[in-house]
Amino acid sequence: MSQTSHDRLLIVDFGSQVTQLIARRLRELNIYCEIHPYQNVSDAFLKEFAPKAMIFSGGPDTVTREGSPRPPESAYKLGVPILGICYGQQVMMQDLGGKVEGGKISGGGGTAEFGRAFVTPTDEKLGLLDDWFADDKEQVWMSHGDHVSELAPGFRVFGTSPNAPYAITADTDRNFYAVQFHPEVHHTPNGKKLYENFIRAAGFTGDWTMGAYREEAIRKIRDQVGDKQVICGLSGGVDSSVAAVLIHEAIGDQLTCVFVDHGLLRQNEADEVVGMFRDNYNIPLIHADESELFLGELNGVSEPEIKRKIIGRLFIDVFQKHANAIEGAEFLAQGTLYPDVIESVSFSGGPSVTIKSHHNVGGLPEKMGLKLVEPLRELFKDEVRALGRELGLPDSFIGRHPFPGPGLAIRCPGEITREKLEILRKADAVYIDQIRKHGLYDDIWQAFVAVLPVRTVGVMGDGRTYDFACALRAVTSVDGMTADYYPFSHEFLGETATRIINEVQGINRVTYDITSKPPGTIEWE
Ligand code: XMP
Repeated sequence: MSQTSHDRLLIVDFGSQVTQLIARRLRELNIYCEIHPYQNVSDAFLKEFAPKAMIFSGGPDTVTREGSPRPPESAYKLGVPILGICYGQQVMMQDLGGKVEGGKISGGGGTAEFGRAFVTPTDEKLGLLDDWFADDKEQVWMSHGDHVSELAPGFRVFGTSPNAPYAITADTDRNFYAVQFHPEVHHTPNGKKLYENFIRAAGFTGDWTMGAYREEAIRKIRDQVGDKQVICGLSGGVDSSVAAVLIHEAIGDQLTCVFVDHGLLRQNEADEVVGMFRDNYNIPLIHADESELFLGELNGVSEPEIKRKIIGRLFIDVFQKHANAIEGAEFLAQGTLYPDVIESVSFSGGPSVTIKSHHNVGGLPEKMGLKLVEPLRELFKDEVRALGRELGLPDSFIGRHPFPGPGLAIRCPGEITREKLEILRKADAVYIDQIRKHGLYDDIWQAFVAVLPVRTVGVMGDGRTYDFACALRAVTSVDGMTADYYPFSHEFLGETATRIINEVQGINRVTYDITSKPPGTIEWE
């Protein structure tokens, strides 16, 4: 448990897939909160934590099962407001004397319900619902098998849906609120308002900011690491950079960064990254130029998965070699974000097929016997950017498009040669320059050039050319999971094609990739 002078909200986690989203909504409202699994929430814990309010999350279990997850009885006696969501609602009802039944799959009046639903108000007013029910009904997201069939004493109904007669209930004397739906998800468009009303009822001042997050995170890193050494793999991306700067602020020279240059970086990338870290932060940094090794092993390889496997394996070997040179390293820092945590859970647990084997340093900690430091694990990408700004990283760096671990290798379909990489670097630099000049960089999730394994015939001046074709790619996306191609104007495309052909020797044809994801992927391999 961390120490903080701010009012604290406790989220008791009963195992919902979306508990972190509750925390995110609260952070957006400048509320300090911590998520703790229900097993850890004992009487003693509650006493020490002293929450100003609590939220009980959803969860996959059923309260009708003997031994199902519950909070300690003392939770209800603290005299603080509680909001129960979905499973959390059912927990409250069952614990406080109401009844919950298993869901029927069809039929009205309290059944299983998954997906969008509309809640309508009852006649009574409730502070939690201020500014809700704009059109006398409000869209919410339901996801429940069980339902409350009898309210606990003291509770009254304030909102109903066709399948959830007790969609919103409250005991206004005790400030206990219970909702059947998930206000934290995107599909409950006005859900944030409920949290806002709840925390107002609980008397929070909303004084918790990214600056405070930074202080908290620093304290946690110091507690975890003590006087031990930490190594951090820098990729030049936003996440690992923010993690490194934050950790450096916490433990100074106990952190060493390793930047592996695999020879597949963009124009000037290695110099920019290394320069930024050396000049601005004075962080001990090993710049491992291993391009000979990587390009040597990739020589003649054209199959995308084999390329990815080679790069992944070499990366681990090289990182390990340099990390071993750092005496007493016990921790490995990673810029893991919350979406990576969800994705890796569903990836390993689900039946999904591997589309591309992602390159990361996932195997390292076990292999090297290192413990992980992951200070961004609770954050979403935009929050990491906000933290980066808070730490003083330049805006131009924070807003950079994502860049994949295997780098230009997967933007060079077919065999990778130094010649093609050089052409690719130059074309990419012109393309990005165009995008910046036209003020489009921040509207685009990711933009890059792929150099194609095709030579085409052209005519320049009076002569024949026989050079490579390239494809421009630019997509919009929220999280990289799905994407749409960016609708550039014809003027922009024409101007860019002309510039690339004039400025980059080796390319005589430019195409624009208008595939969305799915069915395409963002990268070409
Ligand atoms: P795809 O091509 O799968 O890419 O649609 C989705 C996002 O992931 C990035 N990407 C990677 N990032 N290691 C990474 O760190 C990888 O191996 C990798 N492959 C793809 C890609 O650039 C896009 O942002």
